[in-house]
Amino acid sequence: MYTMLQHAHSGIRWIILILLIVSIIGSFTKRNKSEFTDSDKKSYLFTMIFTHIQVLLGAVLYFISPMVQFTSDTMKNAVTRFYTMEHATLMLLAIILITIGYSRSKRADSVAGKHKAISIFYSIALLLILAGIPWPFRGLGAGWF
Ligand code: HEM
Repeated sequence: MYTMLQHAHSGIRWIILILLIVSIIGSFTKRNKSEFTDSDKKSYLFTMIFTHIQVLLGAVLYFISPMVQFTSDTMKNAVTRFYTMEHATLMLLAIILITIGYSRSKRADSVAGKHKAISIFYSIALLLILAGIPWPFRGLGAGWF
């Protein structure tokens, strides 16, 4: 169960990164269009849905992962500090931004306003996610997939 969740959580990162990049590029390039299309809406919505699925998997992993520890040494060890504090905090912040961005986009009156909310909130979220991913070269014990 643990390994299955770990692989799912690791793999979904790529889906989220691709969806975020597609949404952000779309939001910048379509601002001057007169219509907010179904595919714009789906791209922004699926990005949010996948990040929410990722939080659910992350929340379960948080309870069962040996990398998450609450001992007096947690903050002294780079790996346990990363998964217990840094990763979860950065990712939760990113997901909050994505949720706010999506809801602002949904409520905006103009087509430009709908895209602008996504450009701002999803771009900041992407930076936080890139900073919070335990890339293999960071020596945090995680792989590419
Ligand atoms: C967009 C959001 C997120 C992304 C892209 C993401 C990505 C990742 C990646 C790539 C790993 C390494 C997996 C591996 O190869 O071992 C990982 C591990 C982990 N993540 Fe996330 N994560 C996200 C959100 C969260 C959240 C919100 C939590 C907790 C509330 C969380 C908890 C964990 C934990 C505990 C691990 C360590 C799993 C292990 O034992 O190896 N993640 N995450």
